[in-house]
This record gives sequence, structure tokens and C-alpha cells, in this order.
Amino acid sequence: MSKTAPSEDEKFLFVDKDLFNSPMAQADWSAKKLVWIPSEKHGFEAASIKEEHGDEVLVELADNGKKITVNKDDIQKMNPPKFSKVEDMAELTCLNEASVLHNLRERYFSGLIYTYSGLFCVVVNPYKMLPIYSEKIIDMYKGKKRHEVPPHIYAIADNAYRNMMQDREDQSILCTGESGAGKTENTKKVIQYLAVVASSHKGKKDSSAGELEKQLLQANPILEAFGNAKTIKNDNSSRFGKFIRINFDVTGYIVGANIETYLLEKSRCIRQAKTERAFHIFYYMIAGAKDKLREDLLLEPFSNYRFLSAGHVQIAGQQDDELYEETMEAMDIMGFTEEERTGITKLLTYFESHFC
Ligand SMILES: Nc1ncnc2c1ncn2[C@@H]1O[C@H](COP(=O)(O)OP(=O)(O)OP(=O)(O)O)[C@@H](O)[C@H]1O
Ligand SMILES: [Mg+2]
Repeated sequence: MSKTAPSEDEKFLFVDKDLFNSPMAQADWSAKKLVWIPSEKHGFEAASIKEEHGDEVLVELADNGKKITVNKDDIQKMNPPKFSKVEDMAELTCLNEASVLHNLRERYFSGLIYTYSGLFCVVVNPYKMLPIYSEKIIDMYKGKKRHEVPPHIYAIADNAYRNMMQDREDQSILCTGESGAGKTENTKKVIQYLAVVASSHKGKKDSSAGELEKQLLQANPILEAFGNAKTIKNDNSSRFGKFIRINFDVTGYIVGANIETYLLEKSRCIRQAKTERAFHIFYYMIAGAKDKLREDLLLEPFSNYRFLSAGHVQIAGQQDDELYEETMEAMDIMGFTEEERTGITKLLTYFESHFC
């Protein structure tokens, strides 16, 4: 880490360690015998041990000085301050639930959303755009070992790529978590990273993505338009499960990609909960189809389509009409002809008018 002041994007990646390595903080931690005790509001809260009588322990809450008695088994050890905001939680001396949650929370409050836990990379959804996905940041991660750079999804992608090149073995990255956790967003970042790293291999001077990489990136808007929908939990919830396979040649250049498994929640076409919607594409089309196409397809307002309007709610900050344009452009890049695209819109209208 450089000694100069961190730039705007680096603030979201690097942690200022000097604050925690102070001997004062260390002395304070050992003098107070700080531990974690269960808290209804915060999950766990810091307290210092005052007296111990068998299974009963008298503690003083660090927050407000209140003294309470807790069972010995409910107490979890606290790590010394030098472990604050640690990048890999496998390094923690006391590896317990309270310490893991505390570390993730502390990092998150400092704008650090990625944290390793051994081989895993834990991500906390920031629900706002962070400046950590630029070309500059991609460059920072290229060819670096995991512990040379701060935790990031790019490091995971780079590691998989290097392992594939070195060991000549297939690699896989699994994104898991509850709805709205950020699986789709992080999957896109992996693809974005690979599209840059694996296309500059051909000896090209500029690092801009080639045609195939563009197609790889543009597959997502189409998949999302037809397979994602607004749910109670996530305005852009993937209503399908997929396995994306990316193929590379011996020199590490992307030569193709395909989706191996695709499981769609079909029932959403005819039924959605009150504040949910059917698949995005129906709303995109009705909002975005221009005059001529609108007439050709005999499109009507949302309210006339029962199976769409049941759950039709505007998504805050989302321009359905612009996304229609984007979806059509993505189809163009993917090689769909004008005729095919019109055919698809006709099919969608057929569905709407026959089933709605
Ligand atoms: N790294 C991120 N930076 C900024 N915003 C993010 C990030 N990750 C997630 N989000 C926000 O959270 C929303 C939900 O994330 P995402 O769609 O990736 O969840 P998911 O895990 O795929 O959920 P589902 O299982 O419902 O498909 C995104 O639309 C985006 O607004
Ligand atoms: Mg998703």
C-alpha cells in the first residue's frame, strides 16, 4: 500500500491499518477484557468482563456502561484490535460468529464490501455504485496474487484465470446468496474482467473488448430482459437459474461461451404477487415500442393486459422505454436480424393478447 493519500476509488478498497495497530488500543482491549455478548438490536455487542461466578458472568456494556449478568456459554471472545477490518477472516485468532459479523460490518461501514474468508469471498451489497469497477482497477488486479491486492471479485476472477492457464484445468466460480445479495451483479463483473483480460492476449495494443467479448457482455441485458422481474426482494430478480460456460483457447483468448442449463420460473407469466411484475421485457416493449411498431403490433396500454397490470408497478429510477432500446441493441450485437427481432416482439404480443 502506498504511503500517499488514497485516491477516491482506493478508499473503497484499502483499509487504513495504522489506526488499529496503536499500542493504546491494544492495552485498552486487554485491560477491559472485552468480549461479545448477544444483543437483540445489534446481534452482538461489546462488553467487558467484571466478575465471574461459575456459569454466570457479570459484564459491563461498552456502549452505555450498563451491567448485566450473562451465561458463560453466551459469551464469544473478541479479537485484539490489530485484527480490525482484516481482509481475510481466516486470519482471525477467535473465529466465531460475533467476530465475523463485526468484521464484515466494520468493513462495510468503511465502504469495503469485499472480504475473504479462506477460499470464499464474502460480499455485502452496497446498494450504490462504487468506483471500484473501472479499467484502472481491472489493471490493478491483472496477474496479481490474491494477497497482494485488496479483496475483490476481480481477484477471484483473475485467480481462476491464472489457475486455468497454469494448471490447464477448468475452473468454476460459484455465486450464491439470498435474493438481492448481488449474485447477478458480481457475475457480470467476472465476465467484464475476463472479457478485458482474455482479449488483450491477442497482442492487441488497446485493452478494449473485441467482437466476441462484446457479445459476451451483451448477452446479459437480453437474459435479464427475458428472465428477470421485479419481486418484493429485488427489482431485478433473476427468475432463472443458469450455468454459463466460457471457452478459452490454449493462449487464454476467449473463443466462445454458452449457457448450459436454463431453468425459468414460467408461472410468473400468468401470476405475480401484488407488488411484483412479470418479466421485464413485456413492460419494456409496451413502454418502448415506437409508433410504427406499436401500430403493427396493436399494442395497448398496460391496464388492458390483465396478466401484466396485476402486478404493474413502476420501478423507481428505471426507464423501461430506454431499456427496450438497449435490449434491441444487445440483440443486434448478438446477431439477431431485424426480422428475428420483430418476430420476437410479435411473439410477445401474441402472448400478451392471448393470455391476458
Ligand atoms: N456490487 C454492487 N454494486 C452496486 N450495486 C449492487 C452491487 N451488487 C448488487 N447491487 C444492487 O443490488 C441489486 C440486487 O443485486 P442482484 O440482482 O445481483 O441480486 P441477486 O443475488 O442476483 O438476486 P436474485 O437471486 O433475486 O436474482 C442490484 O440490482 C443492484 O442495484
Ligand atoms: Mg440475480
